[in-house]
Amino acid sequence: MQKITISSETAVPDKLWHGSFYESLAGNLLRWYDANKRELPWRDCRNAYFTWVSEIMLQQTRVAAVIPYFLRFIGELPDVKSLAECQPDRLMKLWEGLGYYSRVRNMQKAAQRIMSEYEGRIPGEYDEILRLEGIGPYTAGAIASIAFGKRVPAIDGNVLRIMARFTGSYVPVSDTGFRKEIHRLLSACIPKDRPGDFNQAMMDLGATVCVPKEGPACKKCPLSTGCFACIRQETESLPVKAQKKGRKIVPLTVLVIQDGKYTAIRKRKEKGLLAGMYEFPNVAGTLNEQEALQNVKNEGLDPLKIERIEDSFHVFTHLEWRMTAYRIRVAELDRENPEGDMRFVSKDESGQKYAIPSAFSAYIKYFKENG
Ligand code: ADE
Repeated sequence: MQKITISSETAVPDKLWHGSFYESLAGNLLRWYDANKRELPWRDCRNAYFTWVSEIMLQQTRVAAVIPYFLRFIGELPDVKSLAECQPDRLMKLWEGLGYYSRVRNMQKAAQRIMSEYEGRIPGEYDEILRLEGIGPYTAGAIASIAFGKRVPAIDGNVLRIMARFTGSYVPVSDTGFRKEIHRLLSACIPKDRPGDFNQAMMDLGATVCVPKEGPACKKCPLSTGCFACIRQETESLPVKAQKKGRKIVPLTVLVIQDGKYTAIRKRKEKGLLAGMYEFPNVAGTLNEQEALQNVKNEGLDPLKIERIEDSFHVFTHLEWRMTAYRIRVAELDRENPEGDMRFVSKDESGQKYAIPSAFSAYIKYFKENG
């Protein structure tokens, strides 16, 4: 077979799409799905709220990790109304460990809007779903197709990888032209009777068969006979990704401030990274012991002893925290009149009431048992 050269203007090589694999894609894919689909608690229940919650959780987190969070979440907040009315700290607590907390904050705003504008019923049209807070084209496509049977694709990174390999496109998958073309092609493929299954089959295929670099299982793939990358053994070089920008490194000094019983935490600002969550007090930069002690004094506290504890780091999408940390013993913390925006809490209280992001997980063990 001759290698097809693709000009940078041609996102998807046309030749491949005039073949019979185009017509057979949905049939092959759905037959494979019927035999191999993963049993997941949000599947096959036609509950738009469950679909919504699961899709938001799955945006940054793997299926296996999401399942227990999903079950706990819908157990406590079983419908749009309960989500709309949930107390914000409790909501953060239910999301604790999943990360990217703006996702759940947006979900609550959307739930409140669904209550006021749609009488509590999630709208069923793609364009209306897309207008809800925190919902982009992928999630709107997933909800519209899975919960409402609408013929719209749900295109995420997995689907782009499958399609870049299938079509043999060497254009970076972030390219808008490529994405539009894939949208057009998939829209034409989606069968009228099973749009949700079609999209979920693509998701499962991307997660279990057409996986990234480490070796897709082409022998098990229902699309292999029509797949450019499989036929030409080019799965290693596809998809093409545009070079990522480097992450910004942010040095931070974490202060684990405690008396004999309690540990200081404080609430983060309501906007920006980890908005509204609780954290150990921390300061930008890498402080030495003297500077750390001065900082504690500036907070109106009385430090008695300081000890350097382990460094740690946390990687966010666009930046990375490099944390230096001190554990600082102070004279008794006044729980009734905490300094500034701080609260002084026990291990149990932090576990039950205050959502502390996993960025600080290295320091959770310093909380004192039962105060
Ligand atoms: N990833 C995102 N949404 C999914 C779904 N509905 N099923 C399986 N994997 C997914």
